[in-house]
Amino acid sequence: MAAALRQITEDDLEMIMNWRMSETVTKFMNTNPKLTLEGQKKWLASLEKNDKARNWMIEVDGNPAGVISLIDVDWENGNTSWGYYIGEEKLRSLKLAISLEMSLYDYCFDILGFKEIHNEVFKLNEGVWKLHIACGNRIVKEVQGEVAKEGVSYDVVHLSIERDEWFELRKNKKYEKIHFDIFQDKIGGMTPHHLGVAVADIKKSIMGFRGLGWIWDGEIIDDSSRGVRLAFLNRYDSDEVLELVSPVNEKSPVSHTLNTMRNVATPYHICYEVSDIEKTIEILKGRRYTLTDKPKPAVAFNDRRVAFMLSRDAGLIELLEEEKK
Ligand code: NI
Repeated sequence: MAAALRQITEDDLEMIMNWRMSETVTKFMNTNPKLTLEGQKKWLASLEKNDKARNWMIEVDGNPAGVISLIDVDWENGNTSWGYYIGEEKLRSLKLAISLEMSLYDYCFDILGFKEIHNEVFKLNEGVWKLHIACGNRIVKEVQGEVAKEGVSYDVVHLSIERDEWFELRKNKKYEKIHFDIFQDKIGGMTPHHLGVAVADIKKSIMGFRGLGWIWDGEIIDDSSRGVRLAFLNRYDSDEVLELVSPVNEKSPVSHTLNTMRNVATPYHICYEVSDIEKTIEILKGRRYTLTDKPKPAVAFNDRRVAFMLSRDAGLIELLEEEKK
């Protein structure tokens, strides 16, 4: 068995609709929906803007098999609920279930940095909640008759696993790793690019950092549109990049930082490379980041666009759009 995940496309919608309305899937779901293709198209379009959900098509040996989802993602507190179903009955297997669940934990805890993942299962779906327990979950509570559906009430088991619990358990587990593509997760796809350091005197600071093993390419860049002078420093022993930023006048964006620091050099932004700068800005606005500097071409990066956003908790960040291929 080789399982893989991919993006859901419009061609999948009819199949997904039929799976989701089939008796073997709905019997363990909170609702028995009556879906239409039109409604499915709206659902697919809404996913693009929905920062609280992630959905992937599950494929087994190249065949569409089902859907796995993160539900109610709480980015601020670092937790999420999740679920999946295998619509193709002949592709269901315990091995697939274990691979999906454990790989999802790796993705959520390693890549997204979450603290806790929770999950709700009908009590009568005993195989599944017992599997969650085998994968490290604890039962948080059981609620009698929590879901009422077509005149029948169902007991629900609430389960939860925390990051440390998973890291401890997975040391002894063998499972086929399924890669969770971050195709729609521009946040997960933010690649740290450089650390910006505010400095009062760029030449003196270049000398200071050279004494700590940083290599200077000999160039000082004037970005007069931003009122700053820049120098980039690299290392021979790693890929880290420092950007020294010095003000050209009192109105420069780093002047305030340096005044506060009494001209002592200080880290002041982290830059991330992103594939879709507008989309990342939209998502971060939804997480209470303020756009302080709209995307505009930067002379230091061959006119690739750069934007700045500010968060009380994560400080000033710079977004640098990827090089066009
Ligand atoms: Ni920068």
